Amino acid sequence: MKTFYVTTPIYYANSVPHLGHLYTMIVADTIARSKRQRGIETFFLTGTDEHGINIERAAQKNGRTPKEQADYVVSYFTKMTAAFGLDTPHGGYDIFMRTTNPFHYEGVSELWRRISKARTPKGREALYKGHYEGWFCAPCAEFKTEDEYAKPENAGEPPTCLIHETKLDRVSEESYFFRLSDYDTSLLELYESRPDFVRPEARRNEVRSFVAGGLQDLSVSRVRSSVSWGVPVPDDPDHTMYVWFEALTNYITAIGFGNQQQEQKIGFEKFWPALHLVGKDILRFHAVYWPAFLMAAGVEQPRAVVAHGMWVDPTGRKMSKTLGNTIELDVLNKFFRIDAIRYFCLREMVFGQDGRFGYENLIDRTNSDLASGLGNLSSRTLTMIHRYCDGRIPPGAISDEGRLAAKRAGVEDEVAISDFVSHARDEFARQFDQLAFSRALEEAWGVVARVDKMISDAKPWDLAKDPGQRQTLNAVLYRAAESLRWLAVMLYPVMPTSAEQIYQQLGMDDDAGKIDPRQLRWGGAAAGNEIREVAPLFPRIDKTKTMEEIKGQKSEAGDQTSAVSASVPAQGSGQHTTEAEAVPGVANYIDITDFAKIELRVGEVKTAERIPKADKLLLLTVDIGEEQPRQLLAGIAQYYEPETLIGRKIVVVANLKPRKLRGYESQGMLLAASVGDEGKPVLATFAEDVPNGARLK
Ligand code: MSP
Repeated sequence: MKTFYVTTPIYYANSVPHLGHLYTMIVADTIARSKRQRGIETFFLTGTDEHGINIERAAQKNGRTPKEQADYVVSYFTKMTAAFGLDTPHGGYDIFMRTTNPFHYEGVSELWRRISKARTPKGREALYKGHYEGWFCAPCAEFKTEDEYAKPENAGEPPTCLIHETKLDRVSEESYFFRLSDYDTSLLELYESRPDFVRPEARRNEVRSFVAGGLQDLSVSRVRSSVSWGVPVPDDPDHTMYVWFEALTNYITAIGFGNQQQEQKIGFEKFWPALHLVGKDILRFHAVYWPAFLMAAGVEQPRAVVAHGMWVDPTGRKMSKTLGNTIELDVLNKFFRIDAIRYFCLREMVFGQDGRFGYENLIDRTNSDLASGLGNLSSRTLTMIHRYCDGRIPPGAISDEGRLAAKRAGVEDEVAISDFVSHARDEFARQFDQLAFSRALEEAWGVVARVDKMISDAKPWDLAKDPGQRQTLNAVLYRAAESLRWLAVMLYPVMPTSAEQIYQQLGMDDDAGKIDPRQLRWGGAAAGNEIREVAPLFPRIDKTKTMEEIKGQKSEAGDQTSAVSASVPAQGSGQHTTEAEAVPGVANYIDITDFAKIELRVGEVKTAERIPKADKLLLLTVDIGEEQPRQLLAGIAQYYEPETLIGRKIVVVANLKPRKLRGYESQGMLLAASVGDEGKPVLATFAEDVPNGARLK
């Protein structure tokens, strides 16, 4: 019996999930459904990572114990996974893994013990005790090397994490080390011998060069007095395991590694190795550290580690709680159909690359591809079968005498259309197996377009007026119905509910989720089958009205579970709604004294340059009529070449509290219009000549 095991990362239990987290679950769920559809026994894991300093801090901030904090987040997670149809009762995940499960403690202790007895490929002890001295980022749960942080402006201050833009913690304590430096050759051999082990190719190259550049030993424990919320090191309870060491191990403890009960219930032997789906930001842990731990413990390597890109907001910044620009799941769930969200996520993000998420894009795609595309094709076909064929699938065959009339009407020859649809099915499967979901969906929509065109050319509503055209009318509706049946089976993993609906409405009695698309044969929609009542699949969304309503929303979960408050104010349309916006129907006026608090001045750009490692920021100096030009940071680097700005007159908020970004102080803010879905900045400027420093009133 073939089996398959797919995992998402386990999510930190410090704050509630957002679109970035939902995305990997959708991808894993889609893969799992497709495997099950082909009759492969599949196990799908998701869950929460519940230990470590970050959870401890979130708990403290919210006045909870760490376990209460984790329970709170888990209850939100399970509520959301159910709402999105991703939990077990809806045919989604098989386990919601929690690292506070006692069986996880047992399994992870077993792995530690094995590694502590192991020798590296170079014959040394794999685990040793030493002293760690360095900087640690709590939100990343990672020690940072010099090129991974921004140095402080003032001596004595801690450096800042380049990802989270938060201060690092100084760590100086006794620690166990994993001798990672001895595993470089073995890891390189692994990547060489299994080219598909790390995907996509670009990520594999990155990982390879990271390892080829030389590895440092990894600190894998903290003293209990500094991090107590974790799994104790076996036989040395004054130490707790490094959270990543322990969290990665969940993939094997969940299915029975080091625990008899879990082994019997699920089966490590049965399901391991897994396909790990991860975001590119945590690839190193999965493609370097995890394989090295497994090598040391003598456990088989994962099937593959596949990294996807990040969802960024319309201004191009990664969506994250720390930055406060996330898409909240309860808002998403309230306004959009689950299948539309699933379709959008898989269609819009080219797997492996970053994708922009804005509600407006989601509405546009839902309206064009789903409401006007698949949904319309399905409802027009079924309605016409009801109307012209007494609600029964008509026969599709065309007699020799009828061929010419059918051809004239634009009805495709049966061989041509069935070849086209089978080819699309094969291509869909090929792209899907390479996780190129976006391209796979393009193939399917090629079928939607072709059948739609055939209907529009043949005009069944006209054919129905002429009894002599009955055969042609039947033929076009049969071809449309049969293509829809194929589409429903193909699309089931991506949009399970709607695919089942289409399938049922076509009068089919079996289950689209249990039909292997490779087994589809043209002609399976039997003539005479009674179709069922037609219900719309994807109602059109009124963009303006929905956008207004979304703006009036505030996430149900609010901010209370977030560990770190936003250190950078959000920009663009992806930002959290403010309290004022949360009261629908109330105009949120400010009075003139509020406006007078903002000092807007005319400025002239004197210098402009890019900042290393910050692809969105420009560093400007701007003359606003003061003795010295002001230094300003502006997130416009993707839209303006620095040289083109010199000499330009702009509008500056002059009394904004200075703040530091990437180690540079920004002494104000420039104003720009935010245009289009992407929130493209367009600088505010003047048509007439104005002196530097003039105040805008
Ligand atoms: N707890 C660790 C994972 C341990 S796995 C053994 C962790 N948790 S996380 O909650 O911070 O992130 C989990 C996943 O969510 C990562 O794969 C990360 O890439 C993904 N995402 C978080 N924000 C994201 C986007 N904006 N876009 C896409 N995925 C994102 O890391």
